[in-house]
Amino acid sequence: MKIKTKAQQKDLTHELHIKAREARENAHAPYSKRLVGAAIRTSTGDVFSGCNVENASYGGTVCAERVAIWKAVSELGSIEISELVVITDAKEAWPPCGFCRQVLAEFANAKTIIHTGDLKKIQKTFSFKELLPESFNPSHLK
Ligand code: THU
Repeated sequence: MKIKTKAQQKDLTHELHIKAREARENAHAPYSKRLVGAAIRTSTGDVFSGCNVENASYGGTVCAERVAIWKAVSELGSIEISELVVITDAKEAWPPCGFCRQVLAEFANAKTIIHTGDLKKIQKTFSFKELLPESFNPSHLK
């Protein structure tokens, strides 16, 4: 994608926030009762969202971030993630869990940014490297 101004970038992040909020409405979370929504933008500008999908086995639960990523890969094939927003209604924003960070490592690049927030706003923004320094990623298998 072309270089964006700060205002354009803000609009794109806002769009992801809205998509994450919409997806969160569909969360299947009868066990934790914590509804999570996520949305990603790929380097091609495509947007995918996801919600957490819990399972009675507990272990079969999948986080909102991974649902969004797997939807994107199943539609587009291998992707590069430019930006991710993850939100809950918790006062303090939830960061992606360790499993999701490892899945992100597969599709992140040096510029991938991750925002965490609540239903109203983005609270924190990280680079992927800040969230998972020294990640094990596809480059190690080349
Ligand atoms: N969860 C997410 O969807 N994303 C996160 O980043 C953290 C946790 C979900 C998994 C489970 O359904 C619920 O939140 C409680 O852990």
